Amino acid sequence: MIDALPIRHELRGLSAYGAPQLDVAVRLNTNENPYPMPPHVAAAMAASLAEVVPTVNRYPDRDALELRASLAAYLGHGLDASRVWAANGSNEIQQELLQVFGGPGRRAMGFTPSYSMHRLLALGTATEWIAGVRDADFGLTPDSAVAQIRAHAPDVVFLCAPNNPTGTALPPAVIDAVLDVAPGIVVVDEAYAEFRRAGTPTALANLEGQPRLVVTRTMSKAFACAGVRLGYLAASAEIVDAVQLVRLPYHLSALTQTAAKVALAHVEALLETVEAIKQGRDYLVTELRRLGLPVAESDANFVLVCAGVWVLRKKRPDLDRPFRTPWVPVVPILGVVCCLGLMATLPGDTWIRLIVWLLIGFVIYFGYSRKHSRLQKELAAGGAGSPPPGKGGMRGQPPR
Ligand SMILES: Cc1ncc(COP(=O)(O)O)c(C=O)c1O
Repeated sequence: MIDALPIRHELRGLSAYGAPQLDVAVRLNTNENPYPMPPHVAAAMAASLAEVVPTVNRYPDRDALELRASLAAYLGHGLDASRVWAANGSNEIQQELLQVFGGPGRRAMGFTPSYSMHRLLALGTATEWIAGVRDADFGLTPDSAVAQIRAHAPDVVFLCAPNNPTGTALPPAVIDAVLDVAPGIVVVDEAYAEFRRAGTPTALANLEGQPRLVVTRTMSKAFACAGVRLGYLAASAEIVDAVQLVRLPYHLSALTQTAAKVALAHVEALLETVEAIKQGRDYLVTELRRLGLPVAESDANFVLVCAGVWVLRKKRPDLDRPFRTPWVPVVPILGVVCCLGLMATLPGDTWIRLIVWLLIGFVIYFGYSRKHSRLQKELAAGGAGSPPPGKGGMRGQPPR
């Protein structure tokens, strides 16, 4: 029991982040690229790693300059190595940002439901976490974001675009509005950016002239390199310099840097599968909607389906009718029969037993009828654990 150890009080009772890693044929829960690396890219990576292995008696390039230059070239938008930083996954990047800009006495804020690690990273760096909210359709409007930021004045704001777990994109106007009012830095987590639909912009386009904006990216999703562990940020050169204050020396191994550079050298081949994944996603969205399921708009490699209403209707077709039950006459009859049965075997007051049995019958009946009307109301509102269908986000009519 770790609670017996003198761990920090804000970590007590928490569980470690743990999307289950299951040995199953179709693994969907960690949103990776399901396609393996193309064989010729894997061969090139293996050859480059074989060259580097004999040199690992030496520390790697602490500043990962070559890799950062390659990442900047991939991102475009006028970026160079001085405005890009890399680490072991974008989680490490975000942790470093919180170490620099969060910490004791400071606050970080996200708009939930969103990527759960943002909160855990905040807790791990002793940063207070503020769980902001999204609209009912999982969108985030500039007005709502601004009002929530004004109310809490967070030192670090996390925006997630496309958002995990909803897949929804973020209008650039939200980023601009947030930057106008946020007193600290604004992090846009773009882990799934490569999957966005044509016409959906990236926050990289907002970077110019915004010294407090940070965009984080990863090779864990579109690049099919989750096992490499390579995440990175694009921001102002000052933010990159600030992160140097907390980065561990030689944090990025020579093997990781080599593998990532090979991946970037084969970016076209690696990203070929992205188009297939996007087509599969769009097909899934169309077909699920045809079934009547409410599905959120997705710019990611996953889709949020609110199946609550749909499943409930399938399981309980009676909910589409007013509450009627054969129990109405059965309840008192059952009460009398049970009472007579008991009377025959047990001594005592017949009337008390009769009343008790009747009461039990009516409690069951009214409990059942109340549950029926509650579920009917939820269905009418599109509920049953699902958010209501709404503008932009959830679309699809529950079947009648
Ligand atoms: C929104 C988001 N950001 C970041 C990550 C983590 O990425 P990495 O593997 O680069 O640490 C994930 C992983 O699922 C994610 O969903």
